[in-house]
Amino acid sequence: MQGPKYTTLILQLAFFLFFFVSVICAQSLPPAKSDGFVYGDHRVDWDAILIEAFLDPVCPDSRDAWPPLKQALAHYGDRVRLIAHLLPLPYHDNAFAASRAIHIVNDLSGPATFKLLEWFFKYQEKFYNAQTRNLTRTEVVNEIVKAASQAVGSSFYSSLESGFNDRKTDLKTRVSFKYSASRGVYGTPTFFVNGFQLPDSGSALDFNGWKTFIDPLIGEKSAKNEENLHFFL
Ligand SMILES: *[C@@H]1O[C@H](CO)[C@@H](O)[C@H](O)[C@H]1NC(C)=O
Repeated sequence: MQGPKYTTLILQLAFFLFFFVSVICAQSLPPAKSDGFVYGDHRVDWDAILIEAFLDPVCPDSRDAWPPLKQALAHYGDRVRLIAHLLPLPYHDNAFAASRAIHIVNDLSGPATFKLLEWFFKYQEKFYNAQTRNLTRTEVVNEIVKAASQAVGSSFYSSLESGFNDRKTDLKTRVSFKYSASRGVYGTPTFFVNGFQLPDSGSALDFNGWKTFIDPLIGEKSAKNEENLHFFL
């Protein structure tokens, strides 16, 4: 009976394999810069209500959630602020490349980041699984580089192209995925308000939905300010 011997051998092999794989996959975390794209160019008010949105650029529900979220941001102005995180879902074949393109563009120009995200929302159907079934990975990346540089400006073309050969942009996109996973997010869109997850993740929230969540918080804040005022008077 050689059973136990083989079992030990297999266990040892598994251990070495695990060790090997974890060394190869190791990546220095935490990253030098925290994940997420800050929306808008107004001064960051740390007292503002923080919305965190986890989005996939080729996810239809993320696309549908974006216009009402933008409407809410316009409505509340500097009383709310948004940080967008990318979560490239593994069952969307081109989500990682699309997210990587957004990271590349963000490195080049902050304002172009959301322009490209919106471009993906508008034309994401081109990059759905069925539509790209016959394309190679390289063909898809070339298509993204070509189309994205048309969206954000032709001056981005060569930087986008070289960005896809730069391992750093791959790692940044991985950090986005890992960050989302570390927050327990597994679907898009998912929203957090002041650090707490809103219910109904994975489906779009309309403008009235946003008002239902945000209005009471703003009400509480102004009530508190008044209380403080009475206290000091
Ligand atoms: C992919 O190729 C198959 C076989 O040639 C074809 O029937 C199908 O329509 C193609 N799909 C797309 C999205 O181009």
